[in-house]
Amino acid sequence: MRYGHFDDERREYVITRPDTPLPWINYLGSEAYFGIISNTAGGYSFYRDARLRRLTRYRYNNVPFDLGGRYLYLRDTVSGDFWSPSWQPTRSELEDYECRHGMGYSAISSRHEGIEAETLYFVPVDENLEIWRTRVTNKRDVEAKLSLFSAVEFCLWDAQDDQTNFQRNFSTGQVEVEGSVIYHKTEYRERRDHFAYFACSEPLAGFDTQRDTFLGAYNGWDTPAAVERGQSFDSVANGWAPCGSHHVELTLAPGETKEIVFVLGYWENPVDAKFDPPDSQTINKKLVKPVIERYLRSDEAEGAFQRLRDYWSELLGILQVSTPDEHTNRMVNIWNAYQCMVTFNMSRSASFYESGIGRGMGFRDSNQDLLGFVHMVPERARERILDIAATQLPSGGAYHQYQPLTKRGNDDVGSGFNDDPAWLILGVAAYLKETGDLSILDEQVTYDNEPGSESPLYEHLQRSLRYTLQRLGPHELPLIGRADWNDCLNLNCFSTTPGESFQTTENKEGGVAESVFIGGLFVLAAEELAQIAELRGHTDEAESYRADGAQMDAVVRKHGWDGEWFRRAYDYFGDVVGSAENEEGQIFIEPQGICIVAGIGVDDGKAETALDSVASRLACEHGIVLQQPAFTHYYVNLGEISSYPPGYKENAGIFCHTNPWIMIAESIIGRGDAAFDYYQRINPSAREDISELHRCEPYVYPQMIAGKDAPSFGEAKNSWLSGTAAWNFVAASQWILGIRAEYNGLRIDPCLPKEWERFEATRIFRGATYRISVSKPKGVCKGVTQVVVNGKKAEGNLVTPQPAGSEVVVEVTMG
Ligand code: GLC
Ligand code: GLC
Repeated sequence: MRYGHFDDERREYVITRPDTPLPWINYLGSEAYFGIISNTAGGYSFYRDARLRRLTRYRYNNVPFDLGGRYLYLRDTVSGDFWSPSWQPTRSELEDYECRHGMGYSAISSRHEGIEAETLYFVPVDENLEIWRTRVTNKRDVEAKLSLFSAVEFCLWDAQDDQTNFQRNFSTGQVEVEGSVIYHKTEYRERRDHFAYFACSEPLAGFDTQRDTFLGAYNGWDTPAAVERGQSFDSVANGWAPCGSHHVELTLAPGETKEIVFVLGYWENPVDAKFDPPDSQTINKKLVKPVIERYLRSDEAEGAFQRLRDYWSELLGILQVSTPDEHTNRMVNIWNAYQCMVTFNMSRSASFYESGIGRGMGFRDSNQDLLGFVHMVPERARERILDIAATQLPSGGAYHQYQPLTKRGNDDVGSGFNDDPAWLILGVAAYLKETGDLSILDEQVTYDNEPGSESPLYEHLQRSLRYTLQRLGPHELPLIGRADWNDCLNLNCFSTTPGESFQTTENKEGGVAESVFIGGLFVLAAEELAQIAELRGHTDEAESYRADGAQMDAVVRKHGWDGEWFRRAYDYFGDVVGSAENEEGQIFIEPQGICIVAGIGVDDGKAETALDSVASRLACEHGIVLQQPAFTHYYVNLGEISSYPPGYKENAGIFCHTNPWIMIAESIIGRGDAAFDYYQRINPSAREDISELHRCEPYVYPQMIAGKDAPSFGEAKNSWLSGTAAWNFVAASQWILGIRAEYNGLRIDPCLPKEWERFEATRIFRGATYRISVSKPKGVCKGVTQVVVNGKKAEGNLVTPQPAGSEVVVEVTMG
């Protein structure tokens, strides 16, 4: 069953009924001012940091779902009937409800008793504000007298404090109202130089800023007292819960449309110009007013919206493909790329599942996210890399997380996740391949943000690799530390205290437990660093990295191979994890993926054997589960992984982040049908028909789909903010379609389903535009026989970089 449909032409998903199984959300904003918005206008906004600079309030895990939002109410003056044109919060009956989630905007429209309303929500590029452009049309054959009420609830800035510190917060709230603008200025009198504002393009019939007056003490958002009675109270908040609500009266002739623009925004004043007059406590509005006035104008709002559309056309235009499969086209061209940009902007901070007050930016996560967006925003990727590297520890280790506002490592979580450093090498390598900008390697970057500790970025990479080599265990495999990629495989933790964090508790000396996964990752990273060393002319170094890689490769084959698949780890006691010897957790997906991606076992048949085991033991109709058999009880020596009921999350859930590693591995050994089949199993668009089971948005990847051991097998959770976005983008674009940036050009090496006969792609790479067409006879999966560049036969399947600004025709033949 579906709840809507894709409109690829407009790059939108069109939701046609409001009662989706879960709120289906979208993101507003591209630079500093952001928001999440659901298909019924739920959600909130913030400036830069979802925790520390929260503008509006949202109620996570509320009943009903998804309360707090960008709400409007319409009220018929004659009948007293009122409703929300976005369905929530009144949930009145609507005709023709439609929510169009697009690139950086959402438009919600509906009809009720002959009154149509359509609201477009978006954040203009480069502005710290959002526009709600509402058009109300009278489709009745008589005049309509209506009241339109807006409503947002202000958050008192620090979202964590806002939810907990009521003894203080109920006394601090302050607002000002001037004309049709409501200013939220809590704490502006003291140390804050910023305020929020909520403006309306029309003269007001009234306003409210005190939530409990607007709603009435015991009413919900579905029955605000002001709306019920049809007149605002003109309340001015003092303490309690400031809100913003405008009341506009409308008289519409039959067929008449009226446009009303609301602007919700954030503003910072210079410290010495906060008040006007200077000795007063009144906000100085001189600087903000022109901005507000500008965007309240219909033509300016429209212009800003067109600029936003252009911004996205440009970003997405960097890779566009046309294949025989609509799900591939749609995800690669639109939604997967968009999701990658959202993970760039949000990391893991704000979604329907991430409360905005939780995790900082992950060292590992951020490096992997980079793989998915580096081609769209290389300059910002550069900055991100330097930020991440500056938090690295002198040992080469890493804080597991850092805070985006301060850009410093997070002491609460600390370090000791022994895979972290290697990801920095992969992130930097991706940047170098995309841009060819080797100068980044010479950037002076601190360790642990300590001034004076700077070294060139290149040395950070060297230390990353050394970090692993200096931490080898009894089998010469890398020590796992607190965890590797799998945060929940905690082999040195042994936690028996309820509520204790599995990630930060390391009860045991960590000298024995080893990770085969990090072994594979090391082999991959060593080859990447060897290539980087070569580029810099350090052939000796390159050789030594290759030797280190070869040594680890040999160790993995010796101690990491179980006979039918790669093992997962050795635990604190030196016992194997992820082996046929184990009762549960015999085979894990991660080492099968990463070892083969690193090339281990590709030449001796191990890769094929391991992937056959994945197919027979881990793959199921909704994707590939993380391990089997699932852990049926808690194992103190394995940690959090066994804390989850079977089939969920890391305990045999379909952890979507890992599935693309298998797609890539299958592509490497040339099995195009298998790679594509796995791609489709978790492809959200291909799952659209089972939306009632999948439940999450059909346009973005979730972190997890419940595995076959779970009662809700096939149900997705944690949509949007996951490394799944980047890795699926990499798998589809670079391995299945096979268009890969390399140091010396674009490699074209597809691995396709047998049935396909051709596909086309446009790729902008280092300033030149490549129009690529690939053709192959039916029945073949892999193997490029000829590449012709602008009519000339190329060497092998590498297209060397062509002059920036040029159009390059690339004809690829497989056979
Ligand atoms: C979460 C974390 C990621 C980790 C994964 C597996 O997605 O953000 O860092 O690799 O879980 O545990
Ligand atoms: C939990 C989750 C895991 C995530 C970790 C991050 O352990 O299961 O997916 O990586 O939290 O702290």
